[in-house]
Amino acid sequence: MTRVTRISHATFTTPDLDRLTDYYVEVLGLSLAARDKDRAFLATVTGQQALVLEKGEVPFCTKIAFQIAPGRELGEVAKGLAERHGIDAERRSDAMPGVAEILSFADPKGTTIELFSDAEPVAFDRTPKGFVPLKLGHIAFKATELQPLVRFYEEVLGFRVSDWREDFFVWMRCGPDHHTANFVRGDKPKMHHVAFELKDQAEIIRACDFLGKNGFPLIYGPGRHVIGDNIFTYHRNPDGQIVELYTELARIDSEELGYFVPRPWREDHPYEPKTWGPGTVGNLWGPSAPPDFRDG
Ligand SMILES: [Fe+2]
Repeated sequence: MTRVTRISHATFTTPDLDRLTDYYVEVLGLSLAARDKDRAFLATVTGQQALVLEKGEVPFCTKIAFQIAPGRELGEVAKGLAERHGIDAERRSDAMPGVAEILSFADPKGTTIELFSDAEPVAFDRTPKGFVPLKLGHIAFKATELQPLVRFYEEVLGFRVSDWREDFFVWMRCGPDHHTANFVRGDKPKMHHVAFELKDQAEIIRACDFLGKNGFPLIYGPGRHVIGDNIFTYHRNPDGQIVELYTELARIDSEELGYFVPRPWREDHPYEPKTWGPGTVGNLWGPSAPPDFRDG
């Protein structure tokens, strides 16, 4: 099996490349690694790949890139994907600065999955920022059928299920973080939100002040999710997509132990992957999500 180790970056199309690039650099605290006529490549200030923005008709998340074990030969990985899963992966070399080669193929809902084994950081950015995301943390998608996606992410990419909410919402991990990919049943395949990790609660407050001052009010939060433990805030970017900023996400530090690191507010010890019932609240601290939030 090919085992994904972490999420690296995602690709979005946008009808206004300049506007979205300005937002991610000037407001969200990312760094412009490279730019051409139709694309902008964004990284964290420490030089870790984060986003590719491409000119397109509508705002859409088209690709997600994951790192596999460093040093893995991509030709061998492609062979394994073909033999074990019948996947015909394309090998490409122009995906992202710092990433020399990738393998590309589609998941069951049509999102392009990109795998690479080796990456170099782009330059360190010392420009003062309003706040600083540590990394692209996870992407949540709506999909019409969840089981084929869960099987694909487990069997092809090596993900594990962290939690289910009844049978309509699943959170999956590829490393210690509680979730890197979430899928919620919906009327059509569509990204629900893209999430960036901040270092602590103080950075979340800084981010809320900075977003507010720059005309990006919160649409939900701050609050604490019950499933996954994270402190969350959500706002919309200039393309109307929901962006989450979070901290204190639950972690499984040892897959052998199989439970999440204990947290003092949580009632179940040990907190192991499970299915949560219909009474589970989304926000431990207060109000539920606004009515249009579920649509993404
Ligand atoms: Fe999230």
